Amino acid sequence: MCGIIGIIGKEEVVPRIMEGLKRLEYRGYDSAGIATLYDGKKIDRRRAQGKLVNLEERLREIPLLGTIGIGHTRWATHGAPTEQNAHPHATPRVAVVHNGIIENFRDLREELSAAGHQFETETDTETIVHLITSFLDQGLDPRAAAEAALKRLEGAFALAMIFDGEEDLMIGARRGSPLVLGYGEGEMYLGSDAIALAHLTRKITYLEEGDRVELTRNGARLFDEAGREVIRPVTMATISGGMIDKGNYRHFMLKEIYEQPTVIGQTLGTLIDPLQGKITLPEFPFDLAGIDRVTIIACGTSYYAGMVAKYWLEQKARLNVEVDIASEFRYREAVMPKGGLAIFISQSGETADTLAALRYAQAQGQHILSIVNVPQSSMERESDMVLHTHAGPEVGVASTKAFTCQLAVLACLAIAMAKARGQIDHGEEERLCQALTEVPARMAEVLNHDEAIQALADDVAKARDVIYLGRGPEYPIAMEGALKLKEISYIHAEGYAAGEMKHGPIALIDENVPIIVIAPTGRLFEKTVSNMQEVIARKGRVIFITDEQGAKTDSEEAEATIALPMLDEFVTPLLYAIPVQLLSYHVAVAKGTDVDQPRNLAKSVTVE
Ligand code: F6R
Repeated sequence: MCGIIGIIGKEEVVPRIMEGLKRLEYRGYDSAGIATLYDGKKIDRRRAQGKLVNLEERLREIPLLGTIGIGHTRWATHGAPTEQNAHPHATPRVAVVHNGIIENFRDLREELSAAGHQFETETDTETIVHLITSFLDQGLDPRAAAEAALKRLEGAFALAMIFDGEEDLMIGARRGSPLVLGYGEGEMYLGSDAIALAHLTRKITYLEEGDRVELTRNGARLFDEAGREVIRPVTMATISGGMIDKGNYRHFMLKEIYEQPTVIGQTLGTLIDPLQGKITLPEFPFDLAGIDRVTIIACGTSYYAGMVAKYWLEQKARLNVEVDIASEFRYREAVMPKGGLAIFISQSGETADTLAALRYAQAQGQHILSIVNVPQSSMERESDMVLHTHAGPEVGVASTKAFTCQLAVLACLAIAMAKARGQIDHGEEERLCQALTEVPARMAEVLNHDEAIQALADDVAKARDVIYLGRGPEYPIAMEGALKLKEISYIHAEGYAAGEMKHGPIALIDENVPIIVIAPTGRLFEKTVSNMQEVIARKGRVIFITDEQGAKTDSEEAEATIALPMLDEFVTPLLYAIPVQLLSYHVAVAKGTDVDQPRNLAKSVTVE
């Protein structure tokens, strides 16, 4: 949520800040802005409502100069997404960019207004600049003023600030929201993540919770929450400097859907030894065989991956598994007997609710395992153990390849835990590994159905409501399909357990509601088909997503059928994710929405 970049450099910084902001636009795109010190002295800034192209246009009209500057791309929390509310916020003495929420901003605003400060915006961030200014007015130098202001702030934030007349000083701070420090040759950088700085440097320090950093062109001093100077490790970010581009694809989302056979192959390659037919997890700091209780926590699409994993872990490893969404779990004071395993699933590794839930589980004596896509994320750094999804950077706001990579990792974990607990023998492990190894090739075949799926899109695009049905591990896929459709095409959609329809939702069915039935052949096929018949009997228009065998036997009454390749029942969720992703993509294109940056959303949700 919200992207931050700061450069204290040798040359003009604005073009490079703009490039960093483009890399960060996935974090928010309501408005954007840059502040520099003009002539090395006076704070100057340009801001624009809407996407970065508007800021670019503004900068063409009135260029902004300076060798020190901070930039921001916003996902609005407090205050409408207007130019007035766009960051950087500034007084003549200090300019600030902020990611997060200042929870005590009302009290601070009242206090500062009473002391004569004039507020121009509705944002929480503006209180920070006035607070710092009030300390500067009292005679504190910028370093001391920033330190004093940070002590008064409650909530979550990552901040970067520059000061009037201080052309060799930038200050950053992190509490709750990520911030990285980058090292250049006679230059220093701040960014929300390593991607923001990838065009500038790979030499990175991740700030720890509560850290404050003072940057000059020749280095940085870091201080922990208690104000003690500290040394934090410098690492080499793995992200490459090249701008992530769409290649020949029209949208990042489509490119990322098409990348799935490759990235699933990569992810499985790190966890399966194909010669021996076994799972090769990295060494765990605790005994997997000794775990008898698992709690899985995540948000959104990652939560649906967790729901699929529940079926796998229960059926294969015979484990007691609970799954919850992080925003509920973190406050529900769950009882967690010591020694359980808590799994946190997150593409970004930064989602505020998931991170808070992780900390709760840690305090309850759980072993903490994170499954994350972004290396070195906050979740990774706070976990006992991490398994990476090797999806590569996911730019489209709607998660696609990260989801299926999460499923791949979770499937491997379920097999490993089943084996460790003696629930399956080596023969079964080998069989399941073989089924997983086949997934990339079968996924490539599923992508061949793209045109057939596209042909259905115009019709679905006319609907007001769409219902997705599935059973067993395909039930979360139905929920994921509905979420994908909602977020990028703005059509109301619901995912239901097929057997639950008759308990209420079936009342919604009429000839205007497309029903997407997800039903691979297997244990639950006949039952799902019966539920489909119930829908058809009430004039529901069914799009039947099944396999070649299912299409042969039961496709007659469906309005359309997509027949996917046959695959072992264990791994079907990975395959059936693809048609629902493609359908929502084509519906969004048919509706002309902004596929990669849908309204009101952002990719890395670092506020609660
Ligand atoms: C939907 C989507 C979101 C995320 C959710 C969690 O397409 O991307 O629902 O899955 O915000 O994000 P992470 O996985 O980064 O914790």
